[in-house]
Amino acid sequence: RAALLARVDELVRRVPDYPKAGVLFRDITPLLADGPAFAGVVDAIAADAPDGVDLVAGMEARGFLLAAPVATALGAGVLPVRKAGKLPGPTAVEHYELEYGHASVEIHPFTVPEGARVLVIDDVLATGGTAAATVALLRRCGADVVGLSFLVELLGLDGRAKLGDLPVDALVQVP
Ligand code: PRP
Ligand code: HPA
Repeated sequence: RAALLARVDELVRRVPDYPKAGVLFRDITPLLADGPAFAGVVDAIAADAPDGVDLVAGMEARGFLLAAPVATALGAGVLPVRKAGKLPGPTAVEHYELEYGHASVEIHPFTVPEGARVLVIDDVLATGGTAAATVALLRRCGADVVGLSFLVELLGLDGRAKLGDLPVDALVQVP
């Protein structure tokens, strides 16, 4: 595990001033492009998952890349959590506030069986706005959200505080 985490640290690129001045963006594309490291990350997230996961929800767009292989590793289904206007519907929608402006996430509620145990996955936990909105949306649709898992947690933004007492797992935590 220590070797994998060191490799993840090497392969997540730090990009200053993207997408705007003052932001140090964590770019996971080099990690995705490294076969053994990507497989290691998927295995580690699956190994840390709660028991009895029925569905793995991944947030558009980079969450999709992790949620799908983790779902197959767990023998679970995958649930794409999409940005506004991408699903044919009928959709369930949750609006949330960004630093400037607002956004929304959508799912197809008919793909969530009542009481389904759902694990939520994304690449980066930043302010937690996307994750908190996703949890609220899934719960409104009858899901039992059993935990969240991230590749990278940006500790400075305290996104975890928005997620109540849900189990939150992050492979690497950065200041
Ligand atoms: C990023 C990231 C998370 C979210 C985290 O996605 O992949 O989904 O932001 O930020 P938060 O914790 O402050 O909500 P982005 O909005 O860049 O969308 P994309 O993956 O479609 O580019
Ligand atoms: N990387 C990827 N997604 C993000 C980041 C980041 O640094 N901050 C907020 N969303």
